[in-house]
Amino acid sequence: MIFYFSGCGNSKHVAETIAAGLNDTLTFIPEAACEGRYEYELAEGESLGFVFPIYAWGPPKLVMDFIEKITVKVGPSTGSGTLSYVYFACTCGDESGLSEKVMRKALARKGWSLSACFSVQMPETFIGMPGFKLDTEENVKRKHAKADAILTRNIPRLANKEHFSEMVKGGAAWMKTYMIHPGFSRLATSDKPYHFTDACIHCGKCVEACPLKNVTLEDGHPKWNGNCTMCMSCYHHCPVNAIQYGKTTVGKGQYYFGRR
Ligand SMILES: Cc1cc2nc3c(=O)[nH]c(=O)nc-3n(C[C@H](O)[C@H](O)[C@H](O)COP(=O)(O)O)c2cc1C
Ligand code: SF4
Ligand code: SF4
Repeated sequence: MIFYFSGCGNSKHVAETIAAGLNDTLTFIPEAACEGRYEYELAEGESLGFVFPIYAWGPPKLVMDFIEKITVKVGPSTGSGTLSYVYFACTCGDESGLSEKVMRKALARKGWSLSACFSVQMPETFIGMPGFKLDTEENVKRKHAKADAILTRNIPRLANKEHFSEMVKGGAAWMKTYMIHPGFSRLATSDKPYHFTDACIHCGKCVEACPLKNVTLEDGHPKWNGNCTMCMSCYHHCPVNAIQYGKTTVGKGQYYFGRR
């Protein structure tokens, strides 16, 4: 069983590739959380996986909240078996900080131990602050190719239930994960700066693109309703680039997996 979250499709691609390789099932975390589905059953020996993007050098808050809430019973009738193999794969533009440590602790609180994890560099999606920009076309292609090579190497390791850790942490990881990440989750996920421009053609793609159903159309224009995880999917999926986040996104271009 694989639980995943994805805003712009990078982690969805990784989750789908792993699921296809392991012949496993996928559950989209925001959908399950929205429907209050927190109880799961695994067959004895079945593995449990999580796939998500890195947000400010840590796992997204909605993923951590979901992990905290779920119960997983193992075994046919009694549910008294133990989870034998738990892993996660995360996607990031560059580096994941100490996300492995954060996940190990969160899983330990459930009585589970992490068996394997790896990070996959994928094209950048965050451009909501000055200084942040998207990858060039060349980098997008290079990252996609490298990501597929990482998956080709690691999926058989997951299938064989190997224990391994293959994370790109980056520098000053403690400070980024334990000081910047909590501040980002608390303060930098406001959807207030989102707005539409005159270019809007009322197509509703931004509504479809929001994994949290936080965007609605009012008089043909998008309205953001205050439950945002800052995935930037609404911005990136607008076919005429009519969505901006304050002034910081102006002229920065768009990306989602499958678009280029
Ligand atoms: C809010 C936000 C914060 C991000 N923070 C980081 C980060 O700390 N390190 C990093 O390498 N990439 C970071 N990224 C880039 C994403 O992790 C990366 O593009 C990821 O593959 C996006 O996955 P998705 O397409 O499944 O949403 C961030 C992206 C967003 C939207
Ligand atoms: S409103 Fe936009 S940025 Fe916020 S969660 Fe929805 S798609 Fe992501
Ligand atoms: S996706 Fe863009 S053009 Fe379509 S309704 Fe939303 S803002 Fe308007």
